[in-house]
Amino acid sequence: MDGRILFLPGDGVGPEVLREARRVLEAIEEIYGHRFEIIEGAMGARAIDRFGDPLPEETRRLTSGVDAVLLGAVGFAAEPVHGETIDPARGLLELRQLLGNYANIRPIAVGDAIVAGSPFRADHVRGVDLVIVREVLGGIYYGLPRGIEDGVAYDTEIYSEGEIRRIARAAFELARTRRKKVTSIDKANVLESSVFWRAIVGDVAREYRDIEFSSMLVDNCAMQLISNPRQFDVVLTNNMFGDILSDEAAVLVGSLGMLPSASVGGEVGLYEPVHGTAPDIAGQGIANPVGAILSVAMMLELTFALTEEANAVHDGVGRVLRDGHATADLAAASASGRAPVSTEGMGELIVRALSAGDRG
Ligand code: IPM
Ligand code: MN
Repeated sequence: MDGRILFLPGDGVGPEVLREARRVLEAIEEIYGHRFEIIEGAMGARAIDRFGDPLPEETRRLTSGVDAVLLGAVGFAAEPVHGETIDPARGLLELRQLLGNYANIRPIAVGDAIVAGSPFRADHVRGVDLVIVREVLGGIYYGLPRGIEDGVAYDTEIYSEGEIRRIARAAFELARTRRKKVTSIDKANVLESSVFWRAIVGDVAREYRDIEFSSMLVDNCAMQLISNPRQFDVVLTNNMFGDILSDEAAVLVGSLGMLPSASVGGEVGLYEPVHGTAPDIAGQGIANPVGAILSVAMMLELTFALTEEANAVHDGVGRVLRDGHATADLAAASASGRAPVSTEGMGELIVRALSAGDRG
C-alpha cells in the first residue's frame, strides 16, 4: 500500500506527540511493507507568526494531494497580528470545512489495560465502550449571525435537515458495526433547534429498525456518562454538545491524552488526538502520545482500510499499558508503582511492542 499523509504538528504538545505517532507509522510501514510519504505543513499559532494565518494558503494546497491529514494540536493563546487578534483554533474550524469532514468520531473504551488509570472504581468503568459521533461542520460554531456590538453578544445555533440527516446516518451506520444502539443528544425541552434535531433523527431512525434508538437531554447525558457509562454505544450529538461531552467522557479512561479522533465524510480524512496544546506541559517531553498514536490506528483503518495494521497498533498500546507503563497523566492513578515514562519513552515502548507482536 502506498499513501501520502499530511502532518500538521501545530502548537504546544502537538509536535511532541506527532513525533511518536510518526515513529509508530514507520514501524507499521516496515513490518507490513507499506510506503507512506509524509509531508509537513504549518498550522496554528506558529503559522500565524509566519504567515499571519492559522491555516495558510500553502497548507490548504497541500491537503489536496494527500490521502489523510494527521493533526497534533492547535490553539495557543492568540497573538495580535496587524492589530487584529486571530485565534489559532479558527484554523482547525477552517480545515474541517475545507475537507468537508462533518462526522467527528471519538471512541472511548476502558479495556482491561487501562482500567487502573481511571479515577473510577474498576467495576464501574470496566467494559465501557462508546463512540461519540459529533457533527463538526455546523451548529453554533459556524452559525450566522454572530457578533459583539453595542453591549450585546450573540451566536446562532442553526441546523438544516440535510445536515442532521447525514450525521444521523453516520451514527446509525456505525451502530450497525457495533452493539446496535444509538442515543441522540439534544435540549429539546428548551431549544427549537433541538426539537427539530430530535424530529429528524427520529425520522432517520425509522430507516434503521435493527438499531435500538432513544433521545436523551444533554444535561441528563452529562450525568449518565458518569453514573452509568456502560449503557452507551453510539452517542450522536451536535457540534457543541459533542465538544463538551467528549471531554467529560475522557475522564472515564483517566486522561484526555488517551483519546483519538477521526473527522470523516469528505475525501480526505482528518485524524487528531482529542486533547489540546496543553501549554502547561509543552516542551517538557511528558505529554501522552497515546491519543495521537491511536489516531494513526483510526487513519490506517478508515482511510487505508488496513484493519490488521490498525489492530496491531491497538494491541501494541494495550500491551504497553497492561505492563504498567504510562505517562505522568495516567501514572499517578496506575496501580503498577512504576515511574512515569516520557513522551518519547512511551513511543519507543509501543514501537517495540509492535515489533514483538509481529514476531510473536
Ligand atoms: C476539539 C477542540 C476544538 C473544537 C477547538 C480547538 C476548536 O476543542 O476538537 O474538541 O471545539 O472542536
Ligand atoms: Mn474540545
